Amino acid sequence: MKHLLELQVTINNEPLSIRVPHSETLLDLLRKRLRLTGAKDGCDTGGCGACTILLNGKPVYACSLLAAQVHKQSITTIEGIQDDQEGLHPVQRAFIKCDAVQCGYCTPGMILSTVALLQEEEDPDNLRIQQVLKSHVCSCGVYTQWKKAISYAVKDTEQHNAS
Ligand code: FES
Ligand code: FES
Repeated sequence: MKHLLELQVTINNEPLSIRVPHSETLLDLLRKRLRLTGAKDGCDTGGCGACTILLNGKPVYACSLLAAQVHKQSITTIEGIQDDQEGLHPVQRAFIKCDAVQCGYCTPGMILSTVALLQEEEDPDNLRIQQVLKSHVCSCGVYTQWKKAISYAVKDTEQHNAS
């Protein structure tokens, strides 16, 4: 019988206690057992960003972490970021407004990286934006629209703060 670890973790603001095998990745725990399928299994080798989630507010690749490594830490998935009356986060609205979604496979990861970016810097410069864009592979090539969505979200936040 596999040895199991007792994992305590907060996922989308809900505390969770669950037994996990030593070898289980965070991505498998989220997708296969917790049914949080917003994080996608693109390459499973840390090369595409489709599995991006936030660990204590910072983007990480869930395929490259063991579930056991997030003991007593805080996870946010795309299922946990909705924060307005329409059920959408402002960054999600910006992606829709700027057509930064095509097939949608990479979109949850891109959105979470954008949320973290804008929490880190209210108005990131082009160099910082390029660094974030490079951490995601989009087969549909929505990078230009993604950059527009970031600018839209920055302006949207400024207007919201000024009103
Ligand atoms: S599935 Fe994790 S980086 Fe590609
Ligand atoms: S929107 Fe299709 S892979 Fe990015």
